Amino acid sequence: MLEPTVLKTLPAFLRNPKASGTKIVSLTAYDFPTAKLLDTCGLDFLLVGDSLGMVVLGYEDTTEVTMDEMLHHTRAVARGATQTWVVADLPSRSYDTVALAVENSRRLVGAGADAVKMEGGQERADAVKAILAEGIAVVGHLGMLPQRVRIEGGYRIKGRTELEAARIMEDALVLDALGVSAIVLELVEHSLAMKISQRINCPTIGIGSGPMCDGQILVLHDVVGLFPWFRPRFAQKRADIAAEIQRAATAFVASVKEPIL
Ligand code: KIV
Repeated sequence: MLEPTVLKTLPAFLRNPKASGTKIVSLTAYDFPTAKLLDTCGLDFLLVGDSLGMVVLGYEDTTEVTMDEMLHHTRAVARGATQTWVVADLPSRSYDTVALAVENSRRLVGAGADAVKMEGGQERADAVKAILAEGIAVVGHLGMLPQRVRIEGGYRIKGRTELEAARIMEDALVLDALGVSAIVLELVEHSLAMKISQRINCPTIGIGSGPMCDGQILVLHDVVGLFPWFRPRFAQKRADIAAEIQRAATAFVASVKEPIL
């Protein structure tokens, strides 16, 4: 078991998941200044998502993200987020066995995470049980699983067929019964996401899964316009930081580049 550490206040959604009457809201964070800025914005938790592989490290998808990279970014976020719960992703292949899942969850907690998130449903039940038995909170992730994007050949809405919908519902029920703190539903067909949210006890956190989830999460770079080369349609851009960076850098260049006489 983990030694008790100085714990941040348990988020309200974990204490009384469905009854609080307000939606849960979360954004990703990957570094110290962003975490420090977001720490005062009323978010219920910050996610050190393995999406950092794409929007920070320039990989094609999340499948190449390593444990070392997750630890590095989790440490930075934990230094900035002194109030807000920090959830860190277990990256691809870091939970291929139960022993690996436990060891890597402990490493993420050691880096400052308050909980870990992993993709997958009932096939991960043993790993989820073992991590929970260590006293580490787990957030599930169902629907579109970005760590499987190469196997699946792209990003698409999940749960459109009866068979797929039944499997996602079953996975949600299993994870919920095991005691996960919340389940991220990514690109899940909206009416299925609503039904899951109504049936399970823990909160659902949607991303591209419609408004009826118990909460919503987005990748920060999509919200603030910091990754202008791609933004999913469901993510509303609320600022244009990329343009601001280019404006400031160009202004600096112009201010220095005077002819040398
Ligand atoms: O890695 C990530 O940012 C995520 C979100 C898309 C939920 O898992």
